[in-house]
Amino acid sequence: MQAIKIKVAEVTDLMEKIGKTIEVQGQEIALFLLEDGSIRAVENRCPHKGGTLSEGIVSSEYVFCPLHDWKICLHDGLVQKPDTGCIKTYKVSVEGKDIFIKL
Ligand code: FES
Repeated sequence: MQAIKIKVAEVTDLMEKIGKTIEVQGQEIALFLLEDGSIRAVENRCPHKGGTLSEGIVSSEYVFCPLHDWKICLHDGLVQKPDTGCIKTYKVSVEGKDIFIKL
């Protein structure tokens, strides 16, 4: 199946290191603007016990789950040691002020 590209927000909707929750085709996604200016989109659910990642603390390219502090990389979705697991990541593109993700 071919990926579809969907506009999900505008750059001005995001604040650095503050997650934003969006819902696209029944999938809840967390959007983040990192310190380096890049934008990341990941599944908004921690693989541990379902914590809402958009409410987590962002440091560099990681988000810390608000429930039990698991550290998850926003580039590849991998949970950092000593914990294990991963979350889905979405490809993000920016055109002008519009943010798109690929599903
Ligand atoms: S639910 Fe995320 S660390 Fe427990």
